Amino acid sequence: MSTNAVRIAPSLLSADFGILGAEIEAIDAAGADFIHIDVMDGHFVPNLTLGPPVIRALRRFTAKPFDVHLMIAPVDPLLDAFADAGADIITVHPEAGPHLHRTLQRIRQLGKKAGVSLNPASPVAWLDSIMDDIDLVLVMSVNPGFGGQAFISSQLDKIAQIRRRIDLSGRDIMLEVDGGISIQTIGDAVAAGADVLVAGTASFAGGPERYADNIAALRAAA
Ligand code: DX5
Ligand code: ZN
Repeated sequence: MSTNAVRIAPSLLSADFGILGAEIEAIDAAGADFIHIDVMDGHFVPNLTLGPPVIRALRRFTAKPFDVHLMIAPVDPLLDAFADAGADIITVHPEAGPHLHRTLQRIRQLGKKAGVSLNPASPVAWLDSIMDDIDLVLVMSVNPGFGGQAFISSQLDKIAQIRRRIDLSGRDIMLEVDGGISIQTIGDAVAAGADVLVAGTASFAGGPERYADNIAALRAAA
């Protein structure tokens, strides 16, 4: 299925960390809709990236929404810091704290959009009692921690189930897919119902002179 409505969210994980400000300016100019920022703590996931001070420093390089994907536990003590640093969407994993509903409420109290992320083995049923409290569902199509992994096709059925659930609810909830998105896989993800596509490797491949073509190719294949 082809649609122009999809949003592309390049993941900074695949950018050059030595020049992140310039990378954000370049990927913004190339047509990114959101800037996807992967926050990892070396504990919840086996990799370590960046935190609120870096996000704050990067805020001035773009007006595009910062889509902040928190892979940290416990997540609650740092929500205020990420909101204050300039996050627009804050997405958490249910396993990252004891009270998911409270966590989502806090994100909205802070004036931010609240997202919940399901790992490849996490059940759709976890959404049952929080549909009123989320603005975004993030389906992980790889196990979180690293860029450049292969898309896990079993997640397509989960995406389709969640799409039906969102449509039946009548709520305005984005359905984002993260991991292994490329011109080979994006079409299936969109056909299953995704409307925000994270792409790290596929966005940043080949350096800045390729970014606009990379994003255009993803849109064309969506
Ligand atoms: C993985 C991250 C992803 C990652 C995607 O834990 O959440 O956002 O950067 O990278 P690609 O697009 O290369 O699979
Ligand atoms: Zn991510």
